[in-house]
Amino acid sequence: MEAIVAVYSDWGIGRDGTQPVVLKVDRAHFRELTAGAAVIVGRRTLGDFPGGKPLKGRDNIVVSRQADLHIEGARVAHSTEEALAMAKDYPRCLVIGGASVYRQFFPYLDTVHITKIDLCPESDSFFPDLDALPDWDGESGDWQEENGVRYCFCTYRKK
Ligand SMILES: NC(=O)c1ccc[n+]([C@@H]2O[C@H](COP(=O)([O-])OP(=O)(O)OC[C@H]3O[C@@H](n4cnc5c(N)ncnc54)[C@H](OP(=O)(O)O)[C@@H]3O)[C@@H](O)[C@H]2O)c1
Repeated sequence: MEAIVAVYSDWGIGRDGTQPVVLKVDRAHFRELTAGAAVIVGRRTLGDFPGGKPLKGRDNIVVSRQADLHIEGARVAHSTEEALAMAKDYPRCLVIGGASVYRQFFPYLDTVHITKIDLCPESDSFFPDLDALPDWDGESGDWQEENGVRYCFCTYRKK
């Protein structure tokens, strides 16, 4: 299974339920890589989407422990196992966060698309530092800039 995430230079991914710095180019990259696929998303991250609504053009699997939660345009999974079973209904599924979801699905990931953003705003949510994990190999694209902020697109694969 794949995941996609944008990390700051300390592998922070967000604070107070949102991302302190978002690049337009990264949004476009996210749209391109997830178009037509299924996505697994935590209920809190869903709340940070425009209007708190599932993403259009993707099959949304929202994880929540709330038994009676119904979300128009999404399937609700009540456990990691239920989400993994639902993911099998689709040819491609990406884990799109947030922190608790990345953590719980981490053992099932073989590919992670990472946008590295060369800034370090204070985060309270983090992604595992894949550069420090010997069982992951990373390929980095060239560093580029948006409004003076450096970023690069990387792909990490589990060995
Ligand atoms: N930089 C990035 O690329 C990126 C991407 C996505 C998110 N983020 C950031 O990540 C942060 C949010 O992460 P978070 O950890 O607070 O929230 P989250 O992972 O998005 O959602 C947590 C919620 O998901 C549900 N949940 C989690 N594990 C579950 C399981 N095994 N079974 C059933 N339900 C489960 C629970 O919902 P209920 O409470 O409803 O039970 C839980 O409260 C934000 O700062 C956001 O901006 C960053």
